[in-house]
Amino acid sequence: MTIAPSATDVAAITPDLTETAAAAAVATADMATAEMASSDASEVDLAALTRPDFPLLSQIACLGQPLIYLDYAATSQKPRQVLEALQHYYGHDNANVHRGAHQLSARATEGFEHARDKVATFVGAFSAREIVYTRNASEAINLVARTWGEANLRPGDEVLLSVMEHHSNLVPWQLLAARTGCVLRHAGLTDSGELDLADWRSKLTERTRLVSLVHVSNTLGCLNPIAELAPLVHAAGALLLVDACQSLPHQRVNVAELGCDFLVGSSHKFCGPTGMGFLWAREALLEAMPPFLGGGEMIQDVGLDTSTWADLPHKFEAGTPAIGEAIGMGAAIDYLQAIGMDRIHAWEQRLTRQLFARLQAIEGLTILGPTPEQQPDRAALAAFSVEGLHANDIAALLDSAGICIRSGHHCTQPLHRHYGLSGTARASLGFTTTLEEIDRFAEELESTIGFLREHS
Ligand code: ALA
Repeated sequence: MTIAPSATDVAAITPDLTETAAAAAVATADMATAEMASSDASEVDLAALTRPDFPLLSQIACLGQPLIYLDYAATSQKPRQVLEALQHYYGHDNANVHRGAHQLSARATEGFEHARDKVATFVGAFSAREIVYTRNASEAINLVARTWGEANLRPGDEVLLSVMEHHSNLVPWQLLAARTGCVLRHAGLTDSGELDLADWRSKLTERTRLVSLVHVSNTLGCLNPIAELAPLVHAAGALLLVDACQSLPHQRVNVAELGCDFLVGSSHKFCGPTGMGFLWAREALLEAMPPFLGGGEMIQDVGLDTSTWADLPHKFEAGTPAIGEAIGMGAAIDYLQAIGMDRIHAWEQRLTRQLFARLQAIEGLTILGPTPEQQPDRAALAAFSVEGLHANDIAALLDSAGICIRSGHHCTQPLHRHYGLSGTARASLGFTTTLEEIDRFAEELESTIGFLREHS
């Protein structure tokens, strides 16, 4: 399948294409999209359609075995359209943005700002002024903590988090608590490994000033009901930040529907380059927030002792930004949107059911988080422990069979402690994953467990 978003974008990433050829490429993509739309979304095998765009996934790992990549929650693979967008930028348009009067700078600036428009559309923002580029989601959360947090929180004010949060949604608030005297509270989990809503509600009080929650847990795979929680947060007089790192690659995310105030994402999780992420926030909040880092680009006027700030969103973007990476992120968004986020979600739900069916049949294996029966919208990943075995041994042996999974605490150490575990093994899937890969993973896992049991 060729995913080609629009005539302009096709021409932009492959400038040697004639207009006719670009139009033909778009028509091909439209046909593929129409083909997908005509069948039941859950029946569309996206792996078959998209694998030709991911040459990395066709490599032979070792002993003639094909590589199987099951570590999408750590980072996604990149389609050739993203690689081409990067190559085109560095090969044709490379210059600094917002500075030069020359044509290269104008083209670089246009590509850089056009990518911001794409992010705004991707998350349903009101305007591109609400999108602040950051290095990653961690930096975006730190930005909120350092600017909004330091300006607004006083000793005794509370920030409500949860036990399932990624370190990037724990540590910035710990640093803020040390600076401001605000108090951190953490909602617990149900027996099925979902957010305990009763506990969460009991901890949302008139002292709560900010609630920060992961949308989809990178370890439990559960989807948190953000749209249901947002009105409660606002009724309590607090703001709501959503960490959407693990939802943006897999399902439609819309800030207006979620009803949140801040949302953060990381490009490399959704087929874009590393070193690039973003913060979305309501414009009025961004206007009121002080700058984050100081330097070039973020100013309007500089004196020796004081300065004034650039308009949104540049007030928060000090120094030369990651220009090619922003453009690559825009190409990734084009790619995902040409497939359709609802189709991605539907295919991954099918993968999830297969993954769980295979893993649940393995004796002594326990998966964290809700099953697809308990939560049909849960993410296509499984973090698991195997009685008596170490997750690192499992991952290392699977690697020798060409299968890439992650082991360790997955940046959720408090969550693992909650379960009395130092780590788990985790298989996390993407829309390029095939049903056959899941079967082969399960077979190799069973023989790995058998081997380790025999030799321990
Ligand atoms: N947060 C990333 C993961 O879950 C790095 O692997």
